[in-house]
Amino acid sequence: MADLTTKIGKLTLKNPVLAASGTFGYGLEYSHYLDLNELGGIVVKGLSLHPRNGNPPPRIMETTGGMLNSIGLQNIGVEAFITEKLPDLRRYDVAVIANIFGNTIEEYAQVARRLSAVEGIAGIEVNISCPNIKAGGIMFGRDPGQAEMLTARVRKATLLPLLVKLTPDAPDISEVARRVQDAGADAISLVNTFVGMAIDVETATPFLSTITGGLSGPAIKPLALRLVWEVARKVTIPVVGMGGIASARDALEFIIAGAHAVQVGTANFINPSICIDIINGIRDYLHAKDIQNLNHVVGSLRIKGNEAASD
Ligand code: SIN
Repeated sequence: MADLTTKIGKLTLKNPVLAASGTFGYGLEYSHYLDLNELGGIVVKGLSLHPRNGNPPPRIMETTGGMLNSIGLQNIGVEAFITEKLPDLRRYDVAVIANIFGNTIEEYAQVARRLSAVEGIAGIEVNISCPNIKAGGIMFGRDPGQAEMLTARVRKATLLPLLVKLTPDAPDISEVARRVQDAGADAISLVNTFVGMAIDVETATPFLSTITGGLSGPAIKPLALRLVWEVARKVTIPVVGMGGIASARDALEFIIAGAHAVQVGTANFINPSICIDIINGIRDYLHAKDIQNLNHVVGSLRIKGNEAASD
C-alpha cells in the first residue's frame, strides 16, 4: 500500500485529505456518516474568544456550480468548544485542527494560547480570510504587513503547528504567503472563498443580508488551483490546497500543482462521506501508477515547454 502520510510542520497527517472549516461543524456532527478516524484531519468551525450568532438570514444560497455564504463566523466560542466538543473529539484518532479568528490581533493570540493549553488540538489554522465580518478576517489577509504582524503574534502564543488561511482577494497573495512564512507559519491554507453576490430580480434587492458573501464549490476550482500552483512555487513551507474539490481527481490536481494536503469543503454538504471517497480515490491512483509515496506526486506538474528546454 502506498504511503499517504504528509507533514505540516511537526504534524504528520495519516493522509492528505482534511475536512475544511465551516463545512464540517465541530466534526462530531459527521460521525454518523463516516468514520472520522479515517480522515487526514478535521478543521473545525472558526472559533473566537466569545460565542457569536453570525449574520442575519438569508446568509446562504446555491449558485451555478457553487454556493454563496455569509454566515459571519457563528460559533460557540473557544471555552464551550473545549468543554462541550473536545472531550468527544479526543476519542477519535484524527488530527483536530482548530480554525481561529478574532476582532483584533490580541484576540487571535488569546484564542491560540487557550487552545494550546488543552489536550487534543493537533494544530491551529489562523483565519485571516473571512469576507463576511466587519472586523478581523479578510482585513488582515489583504495586507501583507498586517498578515505578517498577526502571524508573528500568534506564533509567539503557541508551539502548535500553525497554518494560516489566505484570501484570494488579496492584491498579491504570493507576497502575503511569503510574509506569513517569514513570520513563523508552518503551512499556508489556500484559498478561502471568493467575494461574490446575488440579486433577486423580482425585488431588485441583494439576496444575502450582507449584500456580498463568499463563493465556494466547483465554480471556483480552476481559480483556486491556479493560486495554489503559483504560491506553492514561492514558499518553502507546505501549502494546503482547497477550493471546489469534489473528487479524488480534483484533489490530485491540487497535489500535482504543489499542495501537500487538501481540504474538502462545500462537497461535504452534497455527500457527507465524500472525504473517504477522495482518500480511496487517491490511493487507487497511486496504486494504478505504481507510486509508493504520495510525496512523489506533490508538485509533479510537468510543463511541456520546460521539459523541452531542459533536454
Ligand atoms: C463565515 O462564517 O462567514 C465563513 C467563514 C469564512 O469564510 O472564513
